[in-house]
Amino acid sequence: MASASPNAAVASFFFLALLFRASFAQLSETYYDQTCPRLPNIVRASVKKAIQSDIRAGAKLIRLHFHDCFVNGCDGSVLLEDAPGIVSELNSPGNQGIQGLEIVDAIKADVEKECPGIVSCADILAQASKDSVDVQGGPSWRVLYGRRDSRIANKTGADSGLASPFETLDELKAKFAAVGLDTTDLVALSGAHTFGRSRCVFFSHRFANFNGTGSPDPSLDANYRRFLEGVCAAGANTRANFDPVTPDVFDKNYYTNLQVGKGLLQSDQELFSTPGADTIAIVNSFAAREGTFFKEFRKSMINMGNIKPLTGWRGEIRRNCRRVNSNSGLFGGEGEGEGEGHGVM
Ligand code: HEM
Repeated sequence: MASASPNAAVASFFFLALLFRASFAQLSETYYDQTCPRLPNIVRASVKKAIQSDIRAGAKLIRLHFHDCFVNGCDGSVLLEDAPGIVSELNSPGNQGIQGLEIVDAIKADVEKECPGIVSCADILAQASKDSVDVQGGPSWRVLYGRRDSRIANKTGADSGLASPFETLDELKAKFAAVGLDTTDLVALSGAHTFGRSRCVFFSHRFANFNGTGSPDPSLDANYRRFLEGVCAAGANTRANFDPVTPDVFDKNYYTNLQVGKGLLQSDQELFSTPGADTIAIVNSFAAREGTFFKEFRKSMINMGNIKPLTGWRGEIRRNCRRVNSNSGLFGGEGEGEGEGHGVM
């Protein structure tokens, strides 16, 4: 058998080295510096515009990023709708009622105008989450880029991996640990419930016969409970503010609310009301100093954004965030033509 020439062997070695490097590339702040230098400005302007017409836009965007990263890593998989070969994660119970896809479409359209085929939907979610927090009064941080978009969804992974508002603290910790996030990340990231809304269906079980006890959830402040019962009299799909004090501001009030039994979801209040829990001290420290919360929130958002990204040559840059490119190849280069896209909600 003829042996390979030294030149071919060297070429193969460099090809494999390149492939290896590309596959395990790290995210970086400078990823789009040459290819889309104005990306941060474009996304920020688009997020601001969205918030001007919908005060909940920022809350919707960061929740999408969270649900993206917890299933197969931050790869835009949450945005894929049902299609041949795709069972959408949006059908999972944890994603029922999730909103904001049309906001992502609008941001993506703004980005595509200036940098066609360059920026992934997964990176857009990461950047838009930062802007959402910052525009609503929260901390800012330097976003890392270089994620690529998946060509698959994982509905089963969404069924098992997304956190539920009915879970115990131990169950929540386990779901965060499964994606490499620790208890501080859990408490800090839950602080995103300082803005946005929840439908009554997710917390009204706390009003009566909680866990079969015949009584309301004892960790829910009685006056707040009566107030929420009034809100929810309009129906299970009515939305209540997560933060009754400053509902649309990103501040530390989520934690001061927990200290007085005004966490909206059972899963929120457990961070403070589970007897002996290590999360109580963390809640108290965030409630005492907004700067401490903001510092940890920044770190935890980076940690969450780093969950198993698709980098290098894996995945693709989707043209339409709701569906994979029709001619997906190894490099995921070209997308589908105009007019093929899914209808925008
Ligand atoms: C710790 C486990 C968590 C649970 C059990 C949970 C659960 C929920 C539920 C049930 C809702 C209401 C959904 C609806 O009414 O349709 C919600 C909304 C929201 N979640 Fe979470 N969440 C968790 C963690 C997080 C994290 C880590 C973030 C972001 C970093 C986040 C951001 C939000 C935001 C901003 C909203 C409001 C969205 C809106 O107004 O449309 N949540 N969450």
